[in-house]
Amino acid sequence: MDTQVLEPQKKQAEDFLPLLGTDYLELYVGNAKQAAHFYKTAFGFQSLAYQGLETGSRDKVSYVLRQGKITLVLTTPLNSSHPINDHLRKHGDGIKVYAITVNDASKSYLETTSRGGISFMEPTTIEDKDGKIVISGIRTYGDTVNLFVERKNYHGVFLPGYRKWESSFNPEDVGLKFVDHAVGNVELGAMNKWVEYYEKVMGFYNLITFDDSDISTEYSALMSKVVSNGNGYIKFPINEPAAGKKKSQIEEYIEFYEGPGVQHLALATDNIIHTVSELRKRGVEFLSVPGYYYDELLERVGKIDEDVEILRALDILVDKDEEGYLLQIFTKPLEDRPTLFFEIIERKGARSFGKGNFKALFEAIEREQDLRGNL
Ligand code: FE2
Repeated sequence: MDTQVLEPQKKQAEDFLPLLGTDYLELYVGNAKQAAHFYKTAFGFQSLAYQGLETGSRDKVSYVLRQGKITLVLTTPLNSSHPINDHLRKHGDGIKVYAITVNDASKSYLETTSRGGISFMEPTTIEDKDGKIVISGIRTYGDTVNLFVERKNYHGVFLPGYRKWESSFNPEDVGLKFVDHAVGNVELGAMNKWVEYYEKVMGFYNLITFDDSDISTEYSALMSKVVSNGNGYIKFPINEPAAGKKKSQIEEYIEFYEGPGVQHLALATDNIIHTVSELRKRGVEFLSVPGYYYDELLERVGKIDEDVEILRALDILVDKDEEGYLLQIFTKPLEDRPTLFFEIIERKGARSFGKGNFKALFEAIEREQDLRGNL
C-alpha cells in the first residue's frame, strides 16, 4: 500500500460545534476507591470531588481527580443491578466518557444528532445551590460516549451532586497539564466509518493519515487517522488493525476490551524529564526501547535541548517534524487486561504524533504482547 502521510492542514472545520476543550474523562472501574488511590499516588492527581452514599448517591460512587486541566472521574456501581455492571463485566476498567466543554449543550446536541450523531443523552439540566449544568451526549465507537458539558452557569466544585473531596493524603502532582489526544481502537475496516462520523457529525477534519507502511513491524501492522476539531483542542486518532504475520496490538486490545474503545490518553507536560522521573519513583511502569535507539537518535532528530543520556535512562522517545520536535513515552497497561494505557508527551513545536518512533515503539509493545502469550 502507498505511503500516504498528509501534512497537517490548517483548514478550519465548520464551526457549527464550537468546543472549548476537554471537560473530563470518566472511567468505569471495579473499585473506584482503590483506583483513586492509584491515580493519586502513582500519577499525582489531586482529590477534587466525591459523590457516594454520604452525598445521597445510593447506587454508584464517583471520585473526581484533577491535575492541571486533566479531570478524571472514577465510577463504581454499589449494587449488582446497576447497568454499569454490564459495562464492567464486558470491558473491565476503561474509559466510558470523553466529555467536552461547550457553550451550549442543547445546541451541540441538536447540531450533532441532526447530522447523524447517535443520541446517548438528550440535553439534561442538573442543578444545586451552586447553579446549573446542562449535559447532552452522543455515542461513538463501541460503548464509548462523547458528552457535551455546558458549565457557564455553574460555580460548584465539579457537577451538581458532588461535594468537595478533602483528603489528608495529597501526593504532589507530577506536572501533567492537559489531554493532548485520546486514541480509539476500532475493528478491521471500521476506521473510515468513525473518521467520517467525526467529520460529518462533529465537523472534525482529518489531520494526518498513517497507513500500514508507516506503522508496521515484522509481525503486525495498523492504520491510523487523526481527526481534530477546528481549533485543535480535541484530537482523536483512530486505529484499526492491518494484516500482519501475527496478531496486532490493536487486535489484542479489541479481544481483551471485547470491542472498540479508548486505547490511550496522551497527557501533556512541559518538563517530561521531571514528570517521568517522578512517575518512575512512584512505581509507574513504561515500555522500554533498545539501546541502539539512542545511539542513532541525534542523527535522526538533530539538536535537542535534552541530554540524550537522561532520555536513555528514562526510555523517553523523540521525534521531529517540520515544525519542531516532541518527546513521548508510553506506560504499560494500567490494569490487568492489556487495554488502556497513558502516553506522556512534551511538544517542542511539533504537532505530529511520533511517526519516527512507531517502529521502535511497536516492537516494544510486541515484546510485552509476546510475554502475555498474545502475539
Ligand atoms: Fe498517542
